This record gives sequence, structure tokens and C-alpha cells, in this order.
Amino acid sequence: MTATAATLSRDRPAHVPPDRFVDYDVYRGAFPGEESDLHHGLYRLGEEHGRGIFWTPHNGGHWFINDFELLFEAARKPELFSSTEMTIPPVPEEPRLIPLFLDPPEHGLFRAPLMRQFTPGRIAAMEVGIRQFTNELIDAIEAEGHCEFVEAMAEPLPIKIFMRIMGMPLDRLREFREWILDMLSSDDDRRASSYANIAGLMDGLIRERQAEPKDDLISHLLTLEIGDRPIAYEEVQAYCLLLFAAGLDTVANALAFGMQFMATRPDLQARLSADPSLIPEAVEELLRKFGVPMPARTATCDFQFGGADIRKGERVMLMLPACNLDPKTFPDPWNFDLERKNKAHIAFNVGPHRCIGSHLARLELRVFWEEWLRRIPSFRLDPARPATYRAGLTLAVQELGIAWDPAA
Ligand code: HEM
Repeated sequence: MTATAATLSRDRPAHVPPDRFVDYDVYRGAFPGEESDLHHGLYRLGEEHGRGIFWTPHNGGHWFINDFELLFEAARKPELFSSTEMTIPPVPEEPRLIPLFLDPPEHGLFRAPLMRQFTPGRIAAMEVGIRQFTNELIDAIEAEGHCEFVEAMAEPLPIKIFMRIMGMPLDRLREFREWILDMLSSDDDRRASSYANIAGLMDGLIRERQAEPKDDLISHLLTLEIGDRPIAYEEVQAYCLLLFAAGLDTVANALAFGMQFMATRPDLQARLSADPSLIPEAVEELLRKFGVPMPARTATCDFQFGGADIRKGERVMLMLPACNLDPKTFPDPWNFDLERKNKAHIAFNVGPHRCIGSHLARLELRVFWEEWLRRIPSFRLDPARPATYRAGLTLAVQELGIAWDPAA
């Protein structure tokens, strides 16, 4: 915990009772000093403070929900929990990524056409390309016997796939990656410049596709209709920015948290290598145990929820990774259990904003594990490069050393 109870209690608003007041800073993790296991911190927070809806004074003061059933309800009530303002702490000019920052009914107008680009059929057609990219990245490291997994695999794989889907030039991978790191930075200037750079690149591409359409996502986005009118140029741009923000870091961290766990479990490595048909189940259990984003909402009015008095304008964080570790829904939640009966996790959230890219994400994760386990069936954490993590609204692995014995 980060400050003394006495100092903090001065920051407790009058409508927040002491038993809902928790010293939790989303940018430091639940238990500073235990940054090496952000997920266990969230689990421990639930064990020690209970599960429900709580108020933290950090980052401008906000609520967070760490109870599965309660979050399920909140995420499906956009009339109370709005997505139009989602930053924690609040910033004066919030990004307007569509459809993420919209509420129904406007949200549906923009979500429906985008969903048609991400149907299971369209995504399945990408499997060959994803497998090829995965193998190219493994080719580059297999003989080495070790790698920094984030740099070697977790970041470039989804970026390459994304660039291919959008029709972007792959030779700009490195530059693009720098911008992504800027986008995730806590430094406001770096973040602003990354959005400007990405928007600039997208701008050029959108204009090229306007002049000469190809068979890529940008060309398809340009043909969409919003309601009964053609899509506007700025809307294509906003879609592109959202896909960029939503589809890269999430997959990268799901890969890295999964790898960090699997590297400690030779029994699972052997079991999945011997029977790859279990990999889709393993992917689901990894998604459950190691959730990544924790989106936020803003209260649209004063109301009571889960026993708490919520005031108009207050932020409420949906702590998805913690809810997937709620023992009321997932018995013995800290245990990785391939035979788990209830696999209905909410790593992709529920309600109107449920992830549009979940089929793509699952395909990327499945193909990655199929190829990795086929080629490197036995691996471990590399003590020479211990993992580092980053807490925040997106839980992240920054560095992760992995080692294996290269084939003779
Ligand atoms: C493991 C990987 C991923 C995870 C865990 C994940 C998780 C999420 C979550 C929790 C949301 C809901 C946000 C909210 O409620 O405010 C979301 C929304 C979204 N995701 Fe993903 N995502 C992943 C990968 C992807 C990919 C690969 C794409 C596409 C390229 C994508 C596209 C989107 C879009 C467009 C939305 C906004 C949907 C809306 O507002 O209606 N995601 N994602």
C-alpha cells in the first residue's frame, strides 16, 4: 500500500464510507513491492478487502469494481456507466476513438459496420499469414537458445499482423513500434506525438487507398456506410486509430503474460506439445488468469450501485482481470486448470463494447502457441534477464527473458 491510512483518509469524499475506501493506485499495482506479479496483487486485493465496488483516492479519486457479477451488470448498463470519458485520471481533452468512446444508440451505428470486418470467417482466412509471421519470428531466434520475448515475439507479431491487415508497408515496422511504445508511455508529450505520428501515417495511407483501393482493411473501411450515409474521412481515421490502440498492446501482453507463466510450467509444456488439440483450452485459461485491459466509465447521474453511492461524473474502473479471479465465479481461481468447467471469462468484457477483435486475438494466440511448442517444446525463464512489468489501465510485461536448449 502506498500511503498511511491517516494521510489518505483526509481524501475520502463524504459519500464514501470507510469500508469502501481502499489505498490502491492503478499505476503502481495493488501492492507496491510486488510488481513482479500484478495479477496476484489484484487477486490479493480481493482476498484482503473483499469484492464489490470500492473507492480509491489515487489518480483523481475513482471507483473500481472487482466482483465478477457486479462488473457484468455495470458493463451492460451504458445508460449509467458512460464510455464517453474513460481516462484515469481525467484529462481535459480525451481521445475520441470510435466506437470505443461512444454510448448507445450512436455507438451501434459505428460498431455494426466495423464488426462486419472482423467476422469469424474473415479472421479464419488470416491463419496462414499469421502462421507464416510467427515462424519467421521464431526462425530469427531459435538457434540462439534465448530471447527477450517482448522484443522478439510479443510486440512484433501483432504489429506485423495488424500492418498486413491494414495494408501498411512492413518495412516501417521499427518506426511504427517506436510510436507504439510512445503511445503507452506515461509521458504526455510522447503520447501526444505518437498519436500525431500514427495519424499522419494513417492519413497518407487512407488517401492512397481513396485514390486506388486494394483488398485491405483501410480500403474496406472507406466503403462503409454509417446509417444511410457514406463514412466520413475523419471517421475512417478514428477507426484506424482505435484499431491501432486496441489491437496491439492487448495481444502483446496476453502473449507475454502467457509465456511468463508457461515458462515456469514444464508439465504444461509437455502436455500441450504432446496434444496440441488442448491449446485452445489453454489459451482461454491464460486469458482468464492473465487479463490485460481495465477500461473505465463515467457515471451519467447520481445513483446507487452494489450498495455504493455513485455521483455524476465519477470514474468507475472495470477491473476485468480481478473479476476473472473471483472465486465465486471461478473456484480456486489462482489455479491454472485446463479442466475448469466454467470457462466464461470476461477478458474481452461484456455488453455493448465487448471486444470486436476477440476472434483475431484468439487466432493469434492459438497459432503462436501451436508453432512455439512445435519448435521450442521446452523452455524456461532466463535468470539473466528477469521480467519487468508495468501497472496501469493496461497490465503489461516490459521485458521477459526466455531460454531453451537449441536443437543440436
Ligand atoms: C488478447 C487481446 C485482446 C484483449 C484482451 C482485448 C480486450 C478488449 C476489451 C476488454 C474491450 C472492451 C473495452 C471497453 O469495454 O471499454 C475491447 C474492445 C475493443 N477491442 Fe479488443 N482486445 C484484444 C484484442 C483486440 C484486437 C486484436 C482487436 C482488433 C484489431 C481489438 C479491437 C477492439 C475494438 C475495436 C474494441 C472496441 C469495441 C467497442 O467499443 O464497441 N481487440 N477489447
